[in-house]
Amino acid sequence: MKILEYVEAHEKWRGECINLIASENMSSKTMDRAVCSGFMHKYAEGWPENRYYQGCFYVDKAELEGNSYFYQLFEPEYVDLRPISGATANIAMFFGLTRPGDTLISLHTSNGGHISHAQFGAAGLRGLNVMTFPYDGEEMNIDVDKTCEMVRKESPRLIVFGASLFLFPHPVAQVKDAAEEVGAVIAYDAAHVLGLIAGKRFQDPFGEGAKIVTSSTHKTFPGPQGGVIMIRGLAQEQAANFQWATFPGVVSNHHLHHMAAKGITAAEMLKYGEQYAEQILRNAKALAEALHEEGFTVVAEHKGFTESHQVALDFKEFIGKWAAQTLEKANIITNKNLLPWDPVENSDNPSGMRLGTQEMTRMGMKESEMNYIAELFRKVILDKEDPESVKKEVIEFRKDYQNVLYSFDQDQPE
Ligand SMILES: Cc1ncc(COP(=O)(O)O)c(C=O)c1O
Repeated sequence: MKILEYVEAHEKWRGECINLIASENMSSKTMDRAVCSGFMHKYAEGWPENRYYQGCFYVDKAELEGNSYFYQLFEPEYVDLRPISGATANIAMFFGLTRPGDTLISLHTSNGGHISHAQFGAAGLRGLNVMTFPYDGEEMNIDVDKTCEMVRKESPRLIVFGASLFLFPHPVAQVKDAAEEVGAVIAYDAAHVLGLIAGKRFQDPFGEGAKIVTSSTHKTFPGPQGGVIMIRGLAQEQAANFQWATFPGVVSNHHLHHMAAKGITAAEMLKYGEQYAEQILRNAKALAEALHEEGFTVVAEHKGFTESHQVALDFKEFIGKWAAQTLEKANIITNKNLLPWDPVENSDNPSGMRLGTQEMTRMGMKESEMNYIAELFRKVILDKEDPESVKKEVIEFRKDYQNVLYSFDQDQPE
């Protein structure tokens, strides 16, 4: 049996990489302790202090305390840590708030929308009629006027903002009036930007008009793989449907070890979230600027490249796959990405690449390290240096960034 060897080899390798996957992060040892704990061997169906199984007293305390940190960070009226992933949270939202045949407006996958919002994904599985936001590829954002027109004409049941390729805040506030006129509920999928919102460095979806926020808990919010749903201002009946859709709709037992870990991460974000989010954004800007200086086409130059943790590269030819695979040989981990102007048939080999700075920021990197990473990109992609020799540089460079910062690990002796 070699599975443990693979796990350990993976961990060693990850410590020697520059990981720029925008949807991943590193957990603190404090959080790992909860994930690897006896909470994973317990059943706690139901609500804290109202369970179907006995023996949940400590689980209840942990869930209530974890919830309290989410209330402080995001000020919802109701928080639910039970969804076991961001997609599960979205499925609960679709089942709780819509009926088959209802219209949903969400972002097309070629414009950065997530598959769970798509006709061929969870939204379609619910039988929704999915329409996609009119999008402005130049601005890398949703077209406000055309969207308001579409909302007034189509009277959707639900409008879901949020994306997987997400450079700039979405126009939630600008679409709110049109949504209210036709009785549409605005939801916001914060999977990518939850940590930035927690750190008060991105838009405030509830403040701008969203009544539901769904999210993953492991991207810029550096928690365990999992999901969360929060609501504010939803009619009581809708809120009740929503709770039912979560349990017993999409989870029976939730994953208690992950639930505890989400709470710990929220507590870490209360303490360090603002500093962390600030540095993520600085690093994303620095990386974008440095890549531009090195000769790459970085998307949205006229808008300052990015206001999130992400940077998008446009190779201007269909080499996204080659670029990601070649960088991987140098221990630089990225993903190819469809850009709005790519033909959808090219999703396996698009012209773009998406990068995220959240993980390397958590490992302690700052602006000067972003400049160095851009140099490494130039060597591998533009100068076509041997990636195996660049890999040696990466491993050496990475030795100085081995501790998880902006976390309770900082407060504790080794
Ligand atoms: C916008 C968005 N929503 C939902 C999800 C799904 O999250 P999970 O992988 O936790 O199911 C993702 C994942 O990348 C995402 O980018």
